[in-house]
Amino acid sequence: MMRRLGFAAAATACAARCSTTDMVQEFNRHTHKTTSAEEKRHTKERLTAMERIQLFCDPGSFRERDSLVEHECYMFGMEKKKVAGDGFITGSGKVFGRPVFLFSHDFAVLGGSLSGTNAAKVVKIMDEAAKIGVPLIGFNDSGGARIQEGVNSLAGYADIFLRNTLSSGVIPQISVIMGPCAGGAVYSPAITDFTFMVDNSSYMFVTGPEVVSAVGGKLVTKEELGGPRVHATKSGVSAGTFANDIVAMSQLRRLYSYLPLCNRDAAPIVPSVDSRMRDVSSLKTVVPLEAKEAYDMRDAIFPVVDMNSFFEIQPQFAKNIICGFARVEGRSVCIIANQPKVQAGVLDIDSSVKAARMVRFADAFNIPILTFVDVPGFLPGVQQEYGGIIRHGAKLLYAFAEATVPKITVITRKAYGGAYDVMSSKHLRGDSNYAWPRAEIAVMGAPGAVKLLYSKESAEQQAERVKEYEKAFCTPLSAARKGFVDAVIDPSETRLRVCEDLERLSRKQLRNPWKKHGNIPL
Ligand code: HXC
Repeated sequence: MMRRLGFAAAATACAARCSTTDMVQEFNRHTHKTTSAEEKRHTKERLTAMERIQLFCDPGSFRERDSLVEHECYMFGMEKKKVAGDGFITGSGKVFGRPVFLFSHDFAVLGGSLSGTNAAKVVKIMDEAAKIGVPLIGFNDSGGARIQEGVNSLAGYADIFLRNTLSSGVIPQISVIMGPCAGGAVYSPAITDFTFMVDNSSYMFVTGPEVVSAVGGKLVTKEELGGPRVHATKSGVSAGTFANDIVAMSQLRRLYSYLPLCNRDAAPIVPSVDSRMRDVSSLKTVVPLEAKEAYDMRDAIFPVVDMNSFFEIQPQFAKNIICGFARVEGRSVCIIANQPKVQAGVLDIDSSVKAARMVRFADAFNIPILTFVDVPGFLPGVQQEYGGIIRHGAKLLYAFAEATVPKITVITRKAYGGAYDVMSSKHLRGDSNYAWPRAEIAVMGAPGAVKLLYSKESAEQQAERVKEYEKAFCTPLSAARKGFVDAVIDPSETRLRVCEDLERLSRKQLRNPWKKHGNIPL
């Protein structure tokens, strides 16, 4: 039995250290005496199912349920493999004093596999979480459906998938993959809002490497098939990778602090000492003088939001767009920002889908959206067209158009073409749309436009046309004259404006027409 001593001290001490081994040792020193099996696990910088829960929840707040439940399978020698709780820990706890429901798989019990019995435990807390409007967090460490139970375990998964789906947009659901997860243990997370992974110890695949090679596929390692790197950079399945179990728990607590308990609640506001009048004059020099020069959009985001409040989602995937949570005067906001440093911030398939999902999460959970725009348009090319950029780009368009939460948009430089419309423009019900003085709002850049319109003219004539076009459109003024941007502001005013707007817009009420549900271009 774990001694619940000095957990706050352990967590604080852990967070203050940077070496992961030190963190694990520190955690152990403060918390409990370990068994040899646990020690073996700890040398791999992994915690047990219960340790994960204890570290995630406020000290002493976790209340376990159904700890005596046993499976009911009597085939394949399973009658000799009964363990109280059947390998899943379920229950409720608190994070920063706010409630949460959790489940945690114990891989040491039959590979953390799902039985009819432990599925019922999960279903029980899922139903209660949805009923009272409290987030659900799952620590997944499971080989999927318990093979010995046949269709009984498949039924258990279907019960969970159904609840994941019905709770989507009602309560935040977050999954952390903390071991080798397969089958249903990855499909349930896939329906949840965010799925995180842990470095060096977690894997996600529909079927494991052995099954892949058995069905004639090539030999692959777990890492190659579904390691954290693959899902963080290639598939986009993962929202981020944590260095180890302890970092995962502390970062997850941080993420939880941005979220309302359910869709009936407003986004949380935490006390903030960061003044709206803070000097952000560094913003004046963020955008380079040369129109094609790259810069890091984080240099625009960080001064505007409260200090050290940015929590990035999918930092390694589709880096041409930045998504994350932040706070402004303590209010939670979602950030969507083109990243001119990567592919000039162009919108392609992956960045559109990444941002669309974030916008929909924000809208479902009443979190205002703060959008930073510097976008040259949608990425042209055969690959993108064949891949369905039309369909995928439309997801982002749909998501921004549908969103009824407060929407504030800052155009820092380029806003070209369809991407101008898409990126939370006034036309899609943006509440406050600003442009910095050197913004360019146009159908396309001047050289491209002139080439299309005046291809038959001489080089000198074309150069003149470029100047004419630049004067007309490479400025925010024509959009401002039409009211498509509400104001052209000095960059150093941005934080103040955003603070004022969020305060005022906290009273915003907007409803879309009644419908069963929309038909987002999936
Ligand atoms: C029963 C399982 C199990 C499972 C693992 N174990 N998965 N027992 N049902 N699904 C048991 C193993 O037999 C072993 O028992 C112990 O857990 C540890 O497993 P290992 O294979 O030794 O661990 P490791 O080498 O780390 O590999 C982990 C793994 C691998 C990659 C997850 O176990 C694996 O490939 N499992 C099967 C994955 C799979 O195909 N699942 C799909 C199920 S179908 P002992 O007694 O030896 O310690 C599914 C459908 C849901 O989930 C619906 C989807 C839509």
